[in-house]
Amino acid sequence: MTTGMRAKGAIHRLADGEQVSVAAADAFVTEVTKAINARGRFVVALSGGSTPRGLYRLLTEPHYRRQIDWRRGEFFWGDERNVPPDHEESNYRMARELLLDNVDVGGARIHRMEAERDDLDAAARDYEVELARCFGISMKQPPPRFDVILLGLGEDGHIASLFPRTPALGITDRWVAANPVPQLSTTRITVTYPLINRARAVFFLVSGARKTAAVDDAFCGPSDPVRFPSQGVHPGRGRVDWFIDRAAAGRAGKDLHA
Ligand code: 6PG
Repeated sequence: MTTGMRAKGAIHRLADGEQVSVAAADAFVTEVTKAINARGRFVVALSGGSTPRGLYRLLTEPHYRRQIDWRRGEFFWGDERNVPPDHEESNYRMARELLLDNVDVGGARIHRMEAERDDLDAAARDYEVELARCFGISMKQPPPRFDVILLGLGEDGHIASLFPRTPALGITDRWVAANPVPQLSTTRITVTYPLINRARAVFFLVSGARKTAAVDDAFCGPSDPVRFPSQGVHPGRGRVDWFIDRAAAGRAGKDLHA
């Protein structure tokens, strides 16, 4: 269940956004390597927004690029905006341009959310079918286990496209859903809690003073995932790591790293 809890996980309080990227890149390499050794491949969900840009760039630099066998990767997304894939706000386009076009992956292993479609519910269902196919499971089974899910944190506390007080927060029987976001007058496609909470690793990347209130709410605010969606992230059998820079860390960072 997602009630009665606050955000949890290891907090890594870092000097600045660049150090957030370095720490997240190191952890990404660790989890990907573990996955390849255990299962012969790695399956990740990439995030959008601006914070992961530094991580994506860093992963293409020789030091990191060489540590990962990219051809063993399956690349999904945690959410997508209601725009075509070549749109400047597309999460797919951002990850493609900064990361995937600059490492040696096969096109067949890049799984885009088609959030530009008119029928976003059908697009979300198709994404679930794609996930089931990739993991070789039926959609009647529990959600598949991503090796790494990358998440940002919105100033309003949203994660992926699980925005405060939106319907997808209450979904218990879907892996991916179309989520109306009235505060942005749009609908987006997003992974759901049941899928996120099966992950082997969830990495939050948070940087900048604009995020301080959202970090404080996540760790120290009232327990209310409908208002503070990051509080609903509790993978039963996975690690959660918060890579937070000093500007964003606020009370949570100070208390937990005193
Ligand atoms: C999106 C995201 C979203 C993002 C946060 C943080 O599509 O917008 O996936 O959840 O991670 O809004 O965004 P910034 O990193 O830009 O602050």
